[in-house]
Amino acid sequence: MTFPALDRRSVIPLYYQIQQCLLGQIRSGTLKAGEPVLSEQEIATRLGVSRMTARQALKSLCDLGITYSQRGKGTFVSAAKLEKNIRQVLSFTEEMTARDLQPRSKVLSFETAPANGEIAAALQIAPGESVFKLRRIRLADSTPMGIECSYIAQHLCPDLLTTFDPSGSLYQALFERYRIQMAVADEVVEAALAKTEEARLLHIPKGSPVFLFTRTSCVQSGQPVEYVKSTYRGDRYKIAHRLTRLSRELLTLGK
Ligand code: GLP
Repeated sequence: MTFPALDRRSVIPLYYQIQQCLLGQIRSGTLKAGEPVLSEQEIATRLGVSRMTARQALKSLCDLGITYSQRGKGTFVSAAKLEKNIRQVLSFTEEMTARDLQPRSKVLSFETAPANGEIAAALQIAPGESVFKLRRIRLADSTPMGIECSYIAQHLCPDLLTTFDPSGSLYQALFERYRIQMAVADEVVEAALAKTEEARLLHIPKGSPVFLFTRTSCVQSGQPVEYVKSTYRGDRYKIAHRLTRLSRELLTLGK
């Protein structure tokens, strides 16, 4: 891998020049997703900079989500972010399959529990009524993408615990066994930093940016079926919308 000479008289900091150079190699495809980036020591030796400068350059790429570091193994190029489809009610399985990725789940827990006030309000049931609680890590191929914790009122699908294999597709099971098909969803997206447990489960450093999704999914009649809280990796997802502008007449209406 070749590096252009650093301009040591420039006002542009050396770490930034190195960062831009590595970025150029990633953008041009010289360095591909999953491949290792030069180590701190290698950058320092090859470019004649201090280890601190090399570290700063590597850290700045990690902070941007362009690379990620694995303790004891080195720094690697991140895969391109997936665009989260927030215009359609899709299952994780459908989203991954559409991208030619293998959807997988690691089940953390699958049990019944009494609904607390928040869950009961979302599902329009009485507090204390029994709900299924399903907590899973969702993976694309072998990469953990997010953690989802779903709540479903038990009366809608009483034997789910025994009929559903929680490592499979929940939406598919709900449809095939109970003819429940999600049609609309209300979703709120917030930014947050990964807490200790989330970071461990998602293989990201504690404090990394994550998206928090809170979604209530309903069937066509408007009956809520699933209340779910999800934590998705900020370095693996981006959110894209299509915005439309009202005509000038409509914008000024009522002024
Ligand atoms: C999406 C939704 C979740 C839902 C899941 C079902 O990820 N945000 O609310 O539980 O899909 O996915 P699957 O059918 O693959 O289990």
